[in-house]
Formats: sequence, structure tokens, C-alpha cells
Amino acid sequence: MPARLVVLVSGTGSTLQALLDATADPSYGVVVAAVGADRAGCEGLRRAERAGVPTFVCRVADHDDRAAWDRALADHCAGFGPDLVVSAGFMKLAGPVFLDRFGGRFVNSHPALLPAFPGMHGPRDALAYGVKVTGCTLFIVDAGIDTGPVAAQRAVEVHDEDDEQSLHERIKLAERGMLVDVVGRMLREGYRVTGRKVTIP
Ligand code: GRF
Repeated sequence: MPARLVVLVSGTGSTLQALLDATADPSYGVVVAAVGADRAGCEGLRRAERAGVPTFVCRVADHDDRAAWDRALADHCAGFGPDLVVSAGFMKLAGPVFLDRFGGRFVNSHPALLPAFPGMHGPRDALAYGVKVTGCTLFIVDAGIDTGPVAAQRAVEVHDEDDEQSLHERIKLAERGMLVDVVGRMLREGYRVTGRKVTIP
């Protein structure tokens, strides 16, 4: 039986697309069971629909408070029986109920080499600092902001002529490769989290 992924998105979903493309090949050993978003009508949801993958929308505004949204998001995901939940450009912080249910099985891709440049503007902050190398990080989500144990990183050069968009696009190329490679290995071969250290055979 292939392993099951739920992917959470908020935007264009180009990193989701890399996973959809990879899972189209049965030898990858993983299926995208569902794609969820915190907003309706985003391109990420349309990519899932085009691939024939079930989608769901779970908006904070449709719930009494953030805690109710957190429970609903966890319920939506759990309904698809995922082995791993991937945040691929999902612009919300999951709450305690979600983390309790998916702790250790929820990963996020961040467009910087953590612990440098956490938060919403990794590429912009890297440019402003003037670093020559930045990159992306796949980590196991914990209760902090971009603080969880690191599963994988890829380095990306900053060019003199870069602006935020060109740098972010180059980082996203690396993110797509990293996600396909590392999420696939985590699911096919398993992984261990010991303190801050993630080991993938
Ligand atoms: C990625 O850089 C991801 O790390 C960040 O948002 C971007 C998502 O891009 N959180 P896309 O929506 O997959 O194109």
C-alpha cells in the first residue's frame, strides 16, 4: 500500500505540484490523499483538482475562534488517514490540537536555512542581511515559529542582481527537489526524531 500524504497550501502551490508530479509514478510509493487550504479559490486547490485529488477548505473566518479552527483542520486531515502532513506554502500556524494529533508527522518547508531568517519573509530577510548563500529547510513542525527539528536543507546562492522574487524562485526550485526527495524517503524508509536530530535511513 502506498503511504498517504495530506498537503496544506495557501497560494500558488508550485511546491505541491512537484509532489503531485512525483506521486503520479507508482514507484514513488506515496499518494497525495488530499490537499487542504485555509482559503477558497487558490491555485494550489486548482492544481489538486486537475490532478483528481480530493480537496478541502478550512477557513479561520468560518469558525467561532482559532481553537475551533484548529480542531476542524485536524479533523479534516485525519479524515484522509495521512502518514504525513506537509505544509507547502500554508500561511497559518497550526494550533495545539493539530500538533497533538500530528506531532512528529507534520513537516513544513521554509525558504531559508533555519535557524537563519525564520518567519514570513525568509528570502527578503536574507537579501536585506546580505548573505551570499541561503536556501531552504524541511523541518518537523513544533509549537514555535520555524523552530522544529531539521529533516533536510539545501543551499542556494544569492546573486548580486537578485531581488526578492528572483531569489525566492531559485529557492523554490530547491524546495521542490528537496520535498520530493526527502518526503519520499521519509515515507518509504521511515525516520527517527531524537531530540533535535532527525535521522532518515
Ligand atoms: C515556498 O517558498 C514555501 O517555503 C513558502 O511559500 C512558498 C510556497 O510557494 N512558505 P508555492 O505556493 O508552493 O508556489
